[in-house]
Amino acid sequence: MTANSVVLQDLPADLQRECLPRHVAVIMDGNGRWAKRRGMPRIMGHRRGVDVLKNLLRLCRDWSIEALTVYAFSTENWGRPSEEVEFLMTLFERVLRKELQEMMQEDVRIRFVGNLSALPRSLQAEIERSMEETANNQGIQFTVATNYGGRQEIIQACRAIADKVQQGLIQPDQIDEALFEHHLYTVGIGDPDLLIRTSGEMRLSNFLLWQMAYGEIYVTDTLWPDFDRNEFHRALCAYQQRERRFGKL
Ligand code: FPP
Repeated sequence: MTANSVVLQDLPADLQRECLPRHVAVIMDGNGRWAKRRGMPRIMGHRRGVDVLKNLLRLCRDWSIEALTVYAFSTENWGRPSEEVEFLMTLFERVLRKELQEMMQEDVRIRFVGNLSALPRSLQAEIERSMEETANNQGIQFTVATNYGGRQEIIQACRAIADKVQQGLIQPDQIDEALFEHHLYTVGIGDPDLLIRTSGEMRLSNFLLWQMAYGEIYVTDTLWPDFDRNEFHRALCAYQQRERRFGKL
């Protein structure tokens, strides 16, 4: 199937195309609870979570949302039982290998952000390959935060800037928001307009701390493996009812 022959899903009539978020970010929470409620091991929730993510990526593309950024693995997630961490690393690698061809067909540009050097070598290789191969695609920008922490991202940006100051490449008074953003992992992707968090928790959990300065937050009690088209539709309706003032009147 080629990108052109894929049947696009229509935008629901109550959504205004010109008022859709340009960039959606998601904290995909609740996989473990979803599995536990069904008497299944936690990893089954992650497995199902991948299918849900694929559907969301396709919906975003069909509804002309330009960028989707998801929190796949935080710097704190290393604290989980080693079997679960290993399962997740293997899952990321397998999914990347399996989905690369389809991402090419669907014109997806994938990018990973975070401290990638700490990931298993074989996963790093797969990440590099997927980023290189999709780099010239023109469709949706899909960003996967892996071994990502917002505070760590800010600290590494500070270090990089301090290094340049020390070398005399920039003067301290040249440091402004634009320069700072240029040193973040997410350079070029732009800030999210809407952050969706599933499974009810009302916090950022170290995700996109700088980038979410003015982003709208939508929290649903639905667990990630149950987040479907209707749920996304609801989130977008809520977004369209928000008045975004960016600190102005
Ligand atoms: C949070 O649920 C979910 C994760 C830490 C992993 C999310 C990863 C995926 C859905 C796979 C994505 C795959 C690719 C290739 C991008 P949780 O385990 O914290 O659930 P709980 O809060 O119920 O315990």
